[in-house]
Amino acid sequence: MPASDTSRDTLDKTLLLWWEDFYLPIFEYILPKMGQLEGKKVLELGTGTGGTAALLARRGASVVGIDLLPFRLTEAKTRAAEYDVDKSVEFALMDAMHLAFPDNTFDFIISKSVLVFTEHTQTAQECYRVLKPGGKAIFIENMRHHPAVWFYRKAFLKYSGKLHYFSLGDVETVGTEFEGLEHQEFHLSAVSALFWQKCISIPLFYRWTFRVLNAIDTFLLKCLPFLKRFCWITAMICHKG
Ligand SMILES: C[S@@+](CC[C@H](N)C(=O)[O-])C[C@H]1O[C@@H](n2cnc3c(N)ncnc32)[C@H](O)[C@@H]1O
Repeated sequence: MPASDTSRDTLDKTLLLWWEDFYLPIFEYILPKMGQLEGKKVLELGTGTGGTAALLARRGASVVGIDLLPFRLTEAKTRAAEYDVDKSVEFALMDAMHLAFPDNTFDFIISKSVLVFTEHTQTAQECYRVLKPGGKAIFIENMRHHPAVWFYRKAFLKYSGKLHYFSLGDVETVGTEFEGLEHQEFHLSAVSALFWQKCISIPLFYRWTFRVLNAIDTFLLKCLPFLKRFCWITAMICHKG
C-alpha cells in the first residue's frame, strides 16, 4: 500500500521512484509554479512506470502519460491503480516528438529525464503546439558537464553517448520555442553523498552528508552562478503566451 498522501501539500517521495532525495527539491520548486491542479489537463512525456503521473493525479490533475515502451505503460497502469488514481490517468503508446493531440489541448506538459532521448527542438515545438495559451511545459532534464556524473556515464552507461544531455545553451535553445523561460539548476557537490548510499552503505552518513552538501550547493550557486553549468539536473519552465 502506498504511503498515505491525503494532503495535497505533502509530497509522496516514493512516487519520485529513483534518486528521490535529489528529485525532492526539484518537485518542491516546480509544484508551486503549477499551482492548483484540480481540473487541469496534464501531459507527461516518457512517463515510464508512471510515478510522476500518479503524483500529479493525486493532486487533482487529469493526466495523460505517454511512452514508447508498452511494458512500461503496463507497469504505469498498475501503479495508477495501486495509488487509486486510475480514473484520472490515461496512458498511450506515443512518441514525444510526434504528439497525436490537437493544438491547445493541455494546461501543463511535464517530463523527467526524457528530452535527453529526443531531438530537443522538435519535442519543444510539439509541446508548444499542444499546450493551451497560458500553459507551461516543464522539463526536468540531466545536464552534461557535472564532472563526477560525466565520469560515471562514460564508465558505466554504455548508451549514454547516444543521449543529448543538456548544456545551459541547450536550455536557452528550448526556451526560444516559447514566449517565456525560467530555469533552475540543482546538485553540484551533493552528488558525492551517493558514496555513502551506493558504495559504502551507511544511511546515517548519506543523509547527513546530503543535507550539508545540499546547503553548500545552494550557497555556492547563489554566490557563483557560473557553476550552474556543472550541475547534474536542470528544471525548465517554459511559458506559452
Ligand atoms: C529515464 S526514463 C524516465 C521515466 C520517467 N519519466 C521517470 O522519471 O521515472 C525515460 C523514459 O522515456 C521514454 N522515452 C524515450 N524516448 C521517448 C520518446 N521519443 N517518446 C516517448 N517516450 C520516450 C523511455 O521509454 C523511458 O520510459
